[in-house]
Amino acid sequence: MPDVVNVGFVPMATSARGVLFVFCDDTLKFGPDTVKALGTAAGAVKRAAATSQFKGKSGSALDILAPEGLKATRLVVIGAGKLAAIKDHDFLKLGGVLAGKLGGGKDAVTVIAELPGGAMTPAQAASIAAGVRMRAYKFDRYKTKKKDGEDTPLNASVTIAVRDVAAAKKAFAPQNHVVDGVIMARELVNEPPNVLYPVEFARRASQLRKLGVAVEVLDVAAMKRLKMGALLGVSQGSTQPGRTVIMRWNGGKKGEQPVAFVGKGVCFDTGGISIKPSGSMEDMKGDMGGAACVVGLMHALAARKAKINVVGAIGLVENMPDGNAQRPGDIVTSMSGQTIEIINTDAEGRLVLADVLWYVAKKHKPKFMVDLATLTGAILVALGTEYAGLFSNNDQLSERLTEAGQATGERVWRLPMGPEYDKMMDSQFADMKNAGARHGGSITAAQFLQRFVDDTPWAHLDIAGTAMGAPKTDINQSWGSGYGVRLLDRLVADYYESK
Ligand code: BES
Ligand code: MN
Ligand code: ZN
Repeated sequence: MPDVVNVGFVPMATSARGVLFVFCDDTLKFGPDTVKALGTAAGAVKRAAATSQFKGKSGSALDILAPEGLKATRLVVIGAGKLAAIKDHDFLKLGGVLAGKLGGGKDAVTVIAELPGGAMTPAQAASIAAGVRMRAYKFDRYKTKKKDGEDTPLNASVTIAVRDVAAAKKAFAPQNHVVDGVIMARELVNEPPNVLYPVEFARRASQLRKLGVAVEVLDVAAMKRLKMGALLGVSQGSTQPGRTVIMRWNGGKKGEQPVAFVGKGVCFDTGGISIKPSGSMEDMKGDMGGAACVVGLMHALAARKAKINVVGAIGLVENMPDGNAQRPGDIVTSMSGQTIEIINTDAEGRLVLADVLWYVAKKHKPKFMVDLATLTGAILVALGTEYAGLFSNNDQLSERLTEAGQATGERVWRLPMGPEYDKMMDSQFADMKNAGARHGGSITAAQFLQRFVDDTPWAHLDIAGTAMGAPKTDINQSWGSGYGVRLLDRLVADYYESK
C-alpha cells in the first residue's frame, strides 16, 4: 500500500527540531505544554497572528518560518476553533489540515497533541494521526513525470507528542487498520478499468486471506450452477468473465448469526446496449465503489480483530455492448426464480445485486444486510455529494446508520419507500422490469432491490454521489473517497460487536 507518511507517538518534550505543529483555540490560547515548548517564540506568534489575521478558527493555520527563539525551522499553529463546540470527528479533520501543511521537505515533524484545556485524550490524538494518513493519501501510480511546481513527493515522518504514549498507541491501533481499509477502498476505485477487471478485483479481495478472512470466489460456472441469471445477463456482453466473491470474518462467537455487507462491483459501466453518452464515461471505472467499500471494510474488521461474524459479498462484472450483450426486451431469471424484463441495460447494478443479495440472504441468513452501490444518477440530483441515500425496511437499522453517519461524518439521508413505488417496477411480460420511469429513480431502484431480500432486515446505501468525484476535503484529496468504510466500521463497533 503506498503510504506517504509515517505516524508515531512520543512523550511530550519541550524542544523540537524540524517542523513544529501546535494547536490553539479561537482566543489564540495554548495549552501548558505548548506554552513551554514555544518559550520566547510566543511573542512572534502573537505578531504573526495579528498581521495575517489568524483567529484560530477551526481548520485555519498560521505558518511561521524560522521562528525566533525556537530550534524548529518552521512553526505551524492550527486553529481548533471554539473548544466547547469541538466534536470527536473534528480531530480527524485537524489531522487532515495538518497533513495538508506538510509540504515536501525532509524535516522531521513534531505535533504537540494538546488543546488549551490540556493534553488531548488518547482517542483524540489517535484521530489526529488517522486524519494525517487519510489526507496524505494520493493516487499517482501512473504518473511517470512530475510537472514543474508540483509538490515533491511527501515522505514525512510525523511524530505526535502525547501525555501517555502507550494509551495513544493502543487507541490508534484499531483506527490505523480502519484507515488502511479506507485507503484500500480508494485504491480500488481509482484504479483504471483495464487494470481492475472482475478477475483482478477478485484476486485483490483474495489477499484478505492473509488476515484470516475466508475468501470464496465463484466463477462463471459456479454462478451458472447457482442460476444467477440476473448477474450473468449483465456480464455476458464482456470478454472479461464475472465473479462473485464471498468473504467471511468469524471474530464472533461460534455459530452466531453474521451481519452482512454486499457491494455493487461493476468494474466498468458503459451502459451496455443502452449505451451511455461519452461525456465523463471514464468515471464509470468507479462503478465498483460499493464492492471496494466492502473489501476495505472486511480488511478493517479483520485487521482490528472485530468480535463479530461478518459476511462480505461482492458481485463483479463489466457492463459492455457486444454481439453477445443482453438486449432491452430480454427476460432473465434471477437466482430467486423471479423473472426480470430488461428495459434498459444501463440499469445493471440492481441486476447484479439482485442475485448477490438473494444468495447472501438465503445462504448466510444474516442478522441484517447492508448493500452499497453507485446505483443511480438520480441520487446525485436528490442529495448531491454530501449524503448517501439510505433506503431500508427496518427503522432501527436506519437509525443506527444515521447515527454512525453523524459520528463519522460519512452521512446518510433516508428516503421513502412504499407499495406505490414498488408497483412502478411491475412489467407487462415478467415479474418485474429493471427500470421504471425517470421520476423517483433512486427509490424505484431500491424497490427493485427489496424484492430480493425477503424479510431480512436490510438497508441500501446509494453511494453514486459520495464514493467518487466528491469535492476534496481536509481528509480526502483523492477521486475515490473510500466512503462507507468508516461508517460501517462504526455501525459494527457501536451496535453489534460483543465488547
Ligand atoms: N452506475 C450508474 C449510476 C451512476 C451514475 C453512478 C452517475 C455514478 C454516477 C448506473 O448503473 C446507471 O446507469 N443508472 C441509471 C439507471 C437508469 C437507466 C434507470 C441512471 O442512473 O441513469
Ligand atoms: Mn448503468
Ligand atoms: Zn452502474
